Amino acid sequence: MPHRTSLPESASMPQLHLLPPLPYDYAALEPVIDERTLRLHHQSHHAGHVRALNSLLEGQPQLQGRSALWLLLNLDKVPRALRAAVRHHAGGHVNHSFYWSGMAPRGPSARLDGPLADAVARAFGSIEGLRLEFGMAVRKLFGPGWAWLARDSGGSGALRVLTTEQHLNPAMHAHVPLLAFDCWEHAHYLRYENRRLEALEAWWSIVNWPEVALRFALTWRPRAADARGLPARGSRPGSRVAETRTEA
Ligand SMILES: [Fe+2]
Repeated sequence: MPHRTSLPESASMPQLHLLPPLPYDYAALEPVIDERTLRLHHQSHHAGHVRALNSLLEGQPQLQGRSALWLLLNLDKVPRALRAAVRHHAGGHVNHSFYWSGMAPRGPSARLDGPLADAVARAFGSIEGLRLEFGMAVRKLFGPGWAWLARDSGGSGALRVLTTEQHLNPAMHAHVPLLAFDCWEHAHYLRYENRRLEALEAWWSIVNWPEVALRFALTWRPRAADARGLPARGSRPGSRVAETRTEA
């Protein structure tokens, strides 16, 4: 049976990676993300990563039962000749899947409260402080990549704003991702052209804060976090993660 990246591991038989459906219609995030951009992003860019990943794993039965996240965190188990491509496409699959569910149509979900709001206040002073930190991180990211709100999985649990190049993921560097912003041009160019910071500012109104709060809560219980496709532990050397702030 096919699996998605959010499901637990099963190495029992070869499996195909599937493009997860969006949890909303293509026009549901208007006017922040236009329908055409969202459709292309999902059906072309994300689907392309899924197709490429399945193609790369043909003839690799030892890897076919593994989730995209497992592949990303265990690249040393991938044949060297395939490693860079698997890293790119598994990362693209993981990151986009995570990105979709971190957004929701404008509405009550646009509010941040509870323990996550308290943690944000401790780390950044306020939600405005988080947005400012995020904006600075995006501004410093030259080229394609992702910006993240993440927490240190190494013990302190501190919230941090990070950026990763290409399709790398904070999980590769001992951080648990909570929220992702796609900094690749394909995510915003049709509506915002080269105004990436404008796209970011608009994006805050469609952040799915209840989902982010759930991710935050689950990271206190590593086994539950792992079951949702979020890494519970481990650091992988060699990832390029730019950190912009550490909670005091
Ligand atoms: Fe993207």
